[in-house]
Amino acid sequence: MEAPELSNKDCIKCHPKIVKQVQEHGGKHKTEVGCLDCHQVHPPMYPKEKAIPKCSECHSGKPHYKLANCLGCHQNPHEPLNIAFKGKLVKECLTCHTKEEQQLKAHPSAHTKLACNDCHVKHRFVPKCSKCHEPHSAEMTNKDCLMCHPPHQPLVITYKDNTPNSFCAPCHDDIVNTLAKNKTKHHDLACVYCHRNKHGVVPDCETCHGTPHPAAMLAKYPKCIDCHNDAHALVK
Ligand code: HEC
Ligand code: HEC
Ligand code: HEC
Ligand code: HEC
Ligand code: HEC
Ligand code: HEC
Ligand code: HEC
Ligand code: HEC
Ligand code: HEC
Ligand code: HEC
Ligand code: HEC
Ligand code: HEC
Repeated sequence: MEAPELSNKDCIKCHPKIVKQVQEHGGKHKTEVGCLDCHQVHPPMYPKEKAIPKCSECHSGKPHYKLANCLGCHQNPHEPLNIAFKGKLVKECLTCHTKEEQQLKAHPSAHTKLACNDCHVKHRFVPKCSKCHEPHSAEMTNKDCLMCHPPHQPLVITYKDNTPNSFCAPCHDDIVNTLAKNKTKHHDLACVYCHRNKHGVVPDCETCHGTPHPAAMLAKYPKCIDCHNDAHALVK
């Protein structure tokens, strides 16, 4: 006797849970395909293996579709965008994202040794730095961390020209105090006005002042600080 043909409408009678999953979270596995596109035959007429499709039957031609164990991340084919990250993932992410890996490699830091999902524990989740680090000072917000440390190259430290001196103080409190006490016009300048944009940059006095004295005088005393003492403890 011929088995009666099943239609997509029949499945709900015996597999209500799966039909509900597809209805609610099926995504394109709901809108672009039906149950029968994937399950073309049904047990017991056919062995179970034949009733289950391989992803490669429909997905091929991109590096992403060459990964092993599709269901390791796409845990449930009836909810294809319900994605879990397990193990240590880097090369898997590179099938779609390459910029971040390039930065991590070009500027080696402790972050280069982490897996992508040590930080991005779920897809599209972005961690706060405070999950793993103490701030340099209590006033700093997560946005401030990101301003100085791009997460995929955290030792390429740059900052904007409105960065307050108090952000330098946790590590350079001696200089912050010295400059604060100074009575010359340097007192009014921000650290980052002179140490511009990039951490560790040290300017020459001449960059801002040109040649302020007669050449003969500077020939005899070649260093500005011979007379003016120090940029932070300037003597006029
Ligand atoms: C009358 C009830 C009934 C209907 C209708 C039905 N199924 Fe099933 N289905 C079953 C039962 C019972 C099993 C378990 C068979 C077994 O273990 O041998 C099964 C097994 C399956 C399996 C294999 C599961 C495995 O263990 O590997 C798939 C896939 C499946 N059904 C898909 C469908 C789809 C798709 C539809 C709708 C087109 C559908 N079924 C309609 C009762 C039904
Ligand atoms: C895009 C392909 C695809 C579509 C569409 C799809 N399935 Fe499946 N289904 C699978 C795969 C792959 C498995 C095996 C999952 C596994 O091995 O964990 C599976 C497993 C099953 C099973 C057996 C496993 C279980 O959890 O009991 C049933 C029953 C089933 N599907 C029913 C359905 C029904 C009903 C629909 C439509 C509402 C449907 N499927 C739509 C791919 C699909
Ligand atoms: C019968 C064909 C078929 C099979 C088998 C199939 N898919 Fe799909 N899948 C599609 C189609 C069609 C789309 C929509 C077009 C696209 O994104 O490529 C799709 C889309 C997807 C999406 C994006 C969903 C969305 O809503 O944006 C994911 C993820 C996916 N498939 C994963 C899988 C995985 C994992 C497997 C194996 C378990 C699988 N597919 C098996 C046909 C299939
Ligand atoms: C390391 C985890 C992981 C593995 C393994 C994995 N995927 Fe994906 N897949 C993802 C993520 C993350 C997305 C992006 C989802 C989004 O856009 O939100 C995705 C998206 C998709 C999409 C939709 C977007 C697109 O580019 O087509 C399809 C289809 C897909 N995967 C199929 C597969 C197939 C087939 C396999 C196995 C060969 C597989 N995936 C293995 C994580 C994974
Ligand atoms: C199949 C392709 C695919 C794979 C594989 C994939 N992603 Fe994505 N990812 C996307 C898409 C598409 C977006 C959305 C991009 C957009 O909105 O511009 C995205 C966005 C992101 C975002 C940004 C979230 C935000 O709000 O800015 C992060 C973080 C991310 N992915 C991390 C990962 C990590 C980590 C992995 C590996 C474990 C991974 N992705 C694997 C396709 C993928
Ligand atoms: C130390 C933690 C950490 C590691 C490791 C890490 N990320 Fe990120 N990632 C972040 C943070 C934090 C952001 C948010 C940046 C922002 O908001 O400006 C981010 C943003 C992203 C984005 C969104 C787009 C962008 O560049 O702003 C993608 C995509 C991404 N990461 C992918 C990856 C991939 C792929 C890897 C592994 C090669 C990886 N990340 C490793 C912390 C990390
Ligand atoms: C999942 C944990 C994790 C997150 C989230 C994280 N980091 Fe890290 N980071 C580490 C580890 C582990 C190290 C190496 C040990 C240490 O210095 O604590 C490190 C080291 C660093 C270093 C020193 C790098 C070196 O090579 O010396 C900087 C700078 C840094 N992190 C900044 C940040 C910033 C800024 C954020 C937020 C965007 C952030 N981290 C988010 C885990 C993390
Ligand atoms: C004004 C810029 C600036 C801001 C804002 C900033 N950092 Fe830093 N951070 C630095 C500098 C400079 C270093 C020292 C680099 C070196 O040793 O060469 C550093 C070093 C680090 C290190 C390496 C270990 C250590 O303490 O020396 C970590 C981790 C770190 N920062 C995390 C953070 C976090 C988290 C935030 C946000 C709460 C943050 N940073 C905000 C400039 C900044
Ligand atoms: C987390 C600690 C930390 C913070 C915050 C920090 N620095 Fe530094 N800074 C250091 C360390 C450590 C060194 C010495 C090692 C080096 O050269 O990277 C240094 C060195 C310097 C140097 C001298 C470079 C040289 O070649 O002698 C300058 C200039 C400097 N920092 C300016 C600043 C300014 C301006 C800020 C605030 C915007 C700041 N730093 C914030 C830790 C920090
Ligand atoms: C990034 C620019 C910059 C750098 C570098 C710089 N200065 Fe200045 N300096 C200034 C500005 C701005 C003033 C205030 C000028 C005014 O208000 O007329 C100033 C004022 C002075 C004055 C007059 C102080 C007063 O109270 O009247 C002296 C002297 C001086 N600088 C010496 C130096 C010496 C020596 C160095 C190097 C060790 C140096 N400066 C580096 C920008 C700079
Ligand atoms: C007027 C410009 C100017 C301002 C404002 C300024 N600096 Fe400097 N800084 C310099 C110059 C010039 C040098 C190089 C001095 C030398 O070669 O003796 C220097 C050297 C340094 C050094 C490395 C040498 C050392 O003395 O340890 C650090 C660190 C530093 N400055 C931090 C800071 C911090 C933090 C602030 C804010 C409190 C600040 N600077 C404000 C001009 C400035
Ligand atoms: C031999 C000592 C000596 C040397 C070397 C020296 N200066 Fe001066 N500088 C002075 C004296 C003295 C004044 C006048 C102070 C006053 O007018 O109150 C002065 C004044 C200045 C002023 C303030 C001018 C004004 O209009 O108020 C600047 C800026 C300055 N010097 C920068 C420099 C720079 C830059 C160098 C290195 C290229 C340098 N000086 C080298 C002794 C020196």
